[in-house]
Amino acid sequence: MKKVGVLVSGRGSNLQALLAAAREDRLGGEVSVVLSNVADAPALDKARAAGVPAVVCDHRGHAREEHDRAMLGVLRDHGVDLVCLAGYMRLLSAPFLSALPHRVVNIHPSLLPAFPGMDAQRQAWEHGVKVSGATVHLVEEALDAGPIVMQEAVAVRPDDTPDTLAARILEAEHRIYPRAVRLLLGGRWRLEGRRFVSEAEPA
Ligand code: GRF
Repeated sequence: MKKVGVLVSGRGSNLQALLAAAREDRLGGEVSVVLSNVADAPALDKARAAGVPAVVCDHRGHAREEHDRAMLGVLRDHGVDLVCLAGYMRLLSAPFLSALPHRVVNIHPSLLPAFPGMDAQRQAWEHGVKVSGATVHLVEEALDAGPIVMQEAVAVRPDDTPDTLAARILEAEHRIYPRAVRLLLGGRWRLEGRRFVSEAEPA
């Protein structure tokens, strides 16, 4: 059984989607540990409710590399094959990423490379794009920049607000994150430059 570690900082709805997919045998593996840098993140309760170890690694008072080293230790103890960022609100250091080459993945609420960074749904709405969406990508040091694994487009409606748009993008996130994780864990993919090429049947 492949093992997934999930890094969170907040609400945990994407974690919930991954947990549900694992329970329903749609993830291609199990969530074996959830790590949060925020002690009272609601995501931790979701992990505990699913019977998954929930570990707090507070970043405060620690240098980034030191904090990342502690998290890496926990992830290694749990033998994870893939690390999923699910609303994890900190940048990861180069040593952390090179310890897990192409094994760290993130979900972002826009069609990257458009609207990286915070509040992507509002950025897209304010820009006036007619289509936005969600992106799962491999994590590199630069923010929201790695090879794109999967995307789903979401039409922006004339009567949308940033909140209604964000809600529909979140539904798309919950659909593609488990599918992307299954694809990654299945191993039938390769990188050509920065292009992620799937060798598997379309999900
Ligand atoms: C999601 O919109 C995700 O795309 C972004 O942070 C948010 C986390 O939400 N990276 P949740 O904690 O998964 O509910």
